[in-house]
Amino acid sequence: MSKVAEIFETLDYGLAPEAPGPALDWLKANGGKFGHFIDGGFTKPGKTFASINPANGEKLAEISDGTKADVDKAVKAARAAFKDWSQLSGFERAKYLYAIARQIQRESRLFAVLETLDNGKPIRESRDADIPLVARHFYHHAGWAQHIDKAFPDHVPYGVCGQIIPWNFPLLMLAWKIAPALAAGNTVVLKPAEFTSLTALLFAQICARIGLPKGVVNIVTGAGETGEAIVNHPDIDKIAFTGSTEVGKIIRRATAGSGKGLSLELGGKSPFVVFDDADLDSAVEGLVDAIWFNQGQVCCAGSRLLIQESVEEKFIAKVKARMATLRVGDPLDKSIDIGAMVDPVQVARVQDLLKQGAKEGGTVYAPDGTMPEKGCFLRPTLVTGISPAHILASEEIFGPVLVAMSFRTPEEAVALANNTRYGLAASVWTENINLALDLAPKIKAGVVWINSTNQFDAAVGFGGYRESGFGREGGREGMAAYLKPSWEKALKATPVLKLATPISDPVSAGIDRTAKLYIGGKQARPDSGYARAIHGADGRLVGEVGEGNRKDIRNAVEAARGALGWGAKTAHLRSQILYYLGENLDYRKAEFAERLRALTGASANAAKREVDLSVERLFAFAGWADKYDGAVHNPPARMLAAGIVEPIGVLAIAAPDEMPLLGAISLLAPAIAMGNTVVLVPSDPHPLAITDFYQVMETSDVPGGVVNIVTGPKRELSKTLAEHDGVDGIWFAGSLEDSAMIEAASAGNVKQSWTTRGLGYDWSDKAIMESDYLLARATQIKNVWIPYGA
Ligand code: NAI
Repeated sequence: MSKVAEIFETLDYGLAPEAPGPALDWLKANGGKFGHFIDGGFTKPGKTFASINPANGEKLAEISDGTKADVDKAVKAARAAFKDWSQLSGFERAKYLYAIARQIQRESRLFAVLETLDNGKPIRESRDADIPLVARHFYHHAGWAQHIDKAFPDHVPYGVCGQIIPWNFPLLMLAWKIAPALAAGNTVVLKPAEFTSLTALLFAQICARIGLPKGVVNIVTGAGETGEAIVNHPDIDKIAFTGSTEVGKIIRRATAGSGKGLSLELGGKSPFVVFDDADLDSAVEGLVDAIWFNQGQVCCAGSRLLIQESVEEKFIAKVKARMATLRVGDPLDKSIDIGAMVDPVQVARVQDLLKQGAKEGGTVYAPDGTMPEKGCFLRPTLVTGISPAHILASEEIFGPVLVAMSFRTPEEAVALANNTRYGLAASVWTENINLALDLAPKIKAGVVWINSTNQFDAAVGFGGYRESGFGREGGREGMAAYLKPSWEKALKATPVLKLATPISDPVSAGIDRTAKLYIGGKQARPDSGYARAIHGADGRLVGEVGEGNRKDIRNAVEAARGALGWGAKTAHLRSQILYYLGENLDYRKAEFAERLRALTGASANAAKREVDLSVERLFAFAGWADKYDGAVHNPPARMLAAGIVEPIGVLAIAAPDEMPLLGAISLLAPAIAMGNTVVLVPSDPHPLAITDFYQVMETSDVPGGVVNIVTGPKRELSKTLAEHDGVDGIWFAGSLEDSAMIEAASAGNVKQSWTTRGLGYDWSDKAIMESDYLLARATQIKNVWIPYGA
């Protein structure tokens, strides 16, 4: 080590190590071996595995590998605790959350050191970012616990939540999961990642210390199999997962049809966009934070640098110069920039990707500074001279590797930014506020940081678009993810529709009354060239509809994608068109009622009521179109975060079989009110109720492609839609079995899905169906962080 005088001479840096002693003593005091935290106490350690310090390879402790029986015990404890915990007053729950926040602050140094030992992240980060954010999360959610009834009337907690978290922000991810769950009145079974369970175990001790009622928080350690046991446990009501997209898809399939709530926070390949008028030096510092924070093991890491061509050379030179000053070394050293990767497995994964990348070309730069002799260390790395299709530009690397590409125009920047299956976050750097705010809505990402990066706060939702998952953590949206409407519990299975036996009717069968499909604003013949006969309530033939197939679905999706500009139209315009639809349906209500009678056998009154309600529903969502909007958050930074409500994109809708007009309109209206474009598959037995609606749409100025309708076998057509990568979300009204199939099929591109699971949603219930229930499901929130008041 250099002497102080020498340091002054060379201005080289001296080590400033944080002492590991107190954290190691804590491990020793606990016997170096941990069981699970279940029902308020620690179990005896079972079969254990080692938790290793990745900076030096030394063993820190032995932790238990949770079995199915352990998970079951934890779920039972959580279930037993649920009633009392959920019925406690908000103020009482708030006091517990507040007490946790205070204890975390009290023990913040111990938590920070333990986190750094276990995970390898620089102490500067665990001390100044992770742990303060953990405390902030519990403070923020103490407030929600108290105000929940006022903020979310008629909502109830899910019950027992299974929560599975990754190793990159071990305690912070725990806080993101546990704080909102508890505030809402749920109890939890949480599994930390196998590499990093120690701070979760210290947290468990804090829960016991503050007297949190037994069973409210249970922590079961273990690897993927323990996670699977949580996902598949029948008495868990909701799963919240953060981790790889691959495991997220497995969980989507595993929970399909189970009725479990699900939120997924998955991977990313986030763009960091720098325009030529940006403050380049600030952008370089931002970039350091974007990609080398936590060794790049960050789901929203700014791992793709997109730089305007005119400043490319200059900017890359600045980046390289800055990279050469980054210090890689002992994470406990307070002056270190880059610590250890979490485990040799992750080091090997990154190295392997770099090797594969080398085969595809490109130039790799890594400064040649000193490196520790042992431990999981990687140099900061920059890859240039590659195309967007290069493996390093498309795969999530989850390490300190930045790839750079250039663009010429803002349009090109947007196209490159969106050229990924992910959509978690983006940074935009420019001194031109107009340009920044022009880009923000065009980038498909749940978070956009303007002239900033990696900003997080408990009051601001965080979560992804596309294959980065669905659901939000933080803020109001994050609370909503742990609550459900109280009426959902009362839903009963839908009675099976009684359909008349078709009778042959040679007279009308001879008449050609085949309704076509409706694609891109035009009636279209089905690709198959076939039609299916539609029989009325008396069994007689009332008409025919086109027999749609995969090809028709492809055309309809293409038309819907082509019409996505609908979402960028003003809410006022969408509102006007919905009103117009309502008005035009009202003109023809007698004819529609007559058709419904013939199709479903409804009484004259019931048919009239269904049409009247359909008109009212269109008006209801015309009214909502310009009112269901976002919020501006006040994070503790000189920034605002604008939570902007955006459509999901192309929404596939399979309408219910019953109430064939009102059911379809109830789903269609909120979807298009919020700016989605739709591919609708109407009621299986009664599609003619909606094919008559084509003319209503044509006379109401609905732009071509906004609503596309494909008649035919509902189950197969919906499956094709669920599997289609051009579809962003799916709503399916139908049996439990078909709902399960649809949810599983939607895992491919991690679609948001909503299914009725064979339950009797009452389409005529105005309180529910005209509420914001479906609006929330038709939208996703993008948080745009904007420097403000600085
Ligand atoms: P992972 O997704 O396997 O692990 C995350 C958590 O899920 C851990 O607690 C793990 O035990 C659990 N898990 C694993 N398999 C499971 C299953 N079948 N059912 C239920 N739970 C299961 O991530 P892993 O393997 O540690 O890292 C691999 C890659 O995933 C990384 O290189 C990175 O690309 C990505 N990743 C992304 C994260 C993010 O925050 N978006 C976090 C961690 C990893």
